[in-house]
Amino acid sequence: MEALRPSGKMIYFFGALGGLLFGYDTGVISGALLFIPDDFKLTPFLQGAIVAALLLGAMVGAGFAGRLADRLGRRNLIIAAAIIFTVGSLLAALAPTVGVLIAARFIIGLAVGSAALVVPLYLSEIAPTEVRGAIASLNQLMIVSGILAAFIVNAILASSGDWRLMLGLAAVPSLILLVGMFFMPETPRHLVHSGEEDTARDVLEDLPGDERPQDRIEEIREVEQHEEGDTGLRGLLKAKWVRPALIVASGLAIFQQFVGINTIIYYAPTTLTNVGFGKTSAIYANLVIGVVNVGMTIIAIRLIDRAGRKPLLIAGVAGMFLSLLVLGVSLSVLATPHHPGDPAAIITLVCLGTFIASFAATWGPVVWVMIPEVLPLSVRGTAMGIAVLANWAANFLVSQTFPILLNKFGAGPVFLGYAGMGVLAFLFVMKFVTETKGRSLEEIETDLQRATGTRERRQEREQQPTALSR
Ligand code: BGC
Repeated sequence: MEALRPSGKMIYFFGALGGLLFGYDTGVISGALLFIPDDFKLTPFLQGAIVAALLLGAMVGAGFAGRLADRLGRRNLIIAAAIIFTVGSLLAALAPTVGVLIAARFIIGLAVGSAALVVPLYLSEIAPTEVRGAIASLNQLMIVSGILAAFIVNAILASSGDWRLMLGLAAVPSLILLVGMFFMPETPRHLVHSGEEDTARDVLEDLPGDERPQDRIEEIREVEQHEEGDTGLRGLLKAKWVRPALIVASGLAIFQQFVGINTIIYYAPTTLTNVGFGKTSAIYANLVIGVVNVGMTIIAIRLIDRAGRKPLLIAGVAGMFLSLLVLGVSLSVLATPHHPGDPAAIITLVCLGTFIASFAATWGPVVWVMIPEVLPLSVRGTAMGIAVLANWAANFLVSQTFPILLNKFGAGPVFLGYAGMGVLAFLFVMKFVTETKGRSLEEIETDLQRATGTRERRQEREQQPTALSR
């Protein structure tokens, strides 16, 4: 295996591939749900359970994955996630009862939650500084490609209604991921952290962009020496110096969901049929949303290392706020549309498009890029676990309450509520987020240590004479 040295591009491709499964499993269920009732009798509760099981599984997966990423390594955790993906997808496709289907969706969720954590972590730790934003954004590109692939599969298989194939097809990329990852290296940061410096040096020598592997290793070792407290969850929660980073990571993770992205990704066909579109045209309009999502993510990849993360977050939240405001006001004041040509229907389609474009070019990729960047090495996995768990919990809250809120208040006020969240997200970014573009992960951590005084405390400790030397 060692003889087969993968190129940088291969490493980035397989490193990101887990995102495809995250996206596919997110996108496929809305289509599959239309046909599952052909085989199993579904009450509204069971229907909700099929959707929610993945989200709950993802929360559990994210909760455990952090610690595992620090213990087993990033690469091994991707391999484990690929195995779970494969088993879960096959089980879902072959499910003899609805109970097994729900269990399979929970199992897939475990892998989705782990992938949401470990894929951006792996990419961020393996990428050279100057292009780290673009490389880590490949995760989001895979997520949105997975969502689009699922929308396409749903559209193609809609005539046959073969929901088992829709769900089972996810096993193909997960098997490719499983085989591919065996040939990929562990990240140099994790290797140094676990004392395997020689292997870290080999990996750095093979990677593009890092000309001085030894300097990089010393830099990684140096920042680790200034870390304080133990690396478990309890130590992390007590470690005051990690707190500012944890607030940024978790806040970004939560606001990414609270602006309401998944009310569109999960429910756009329903929203469109509510404003007068027929089922078929709603499915095609949904495909357009999927394409815009991919296209704008590619633009983000070009911008993220040039414009920087913070300007993108600010521009994105402005675009999302305006889209939601116009949508909310129009649906509140205009007559209920019954036809796609009605003003409220046209405004809905346009606003959904501008919202998705704004999200995809900014908050979609930037949040997943920044979460590992801001967190310190020794606790990066564990701390990411908290942020990613928060992301899935917020996702769960928004996507489960959306239909209820819609029913109670109507679409106009609900979208205005998400616009309000956009304002809070803006204030959060302005107050807490600092730019990470162009700085190595070690420089970002050094700045955190300086700002929170851990460096000074260590120097003081070193200057104090020890009992032995006295
Ligand atoms: C979010 C997902 C969302 C997807 C949409 C991701 O960054 O975390 O919740 O479904 O983007 O493109």
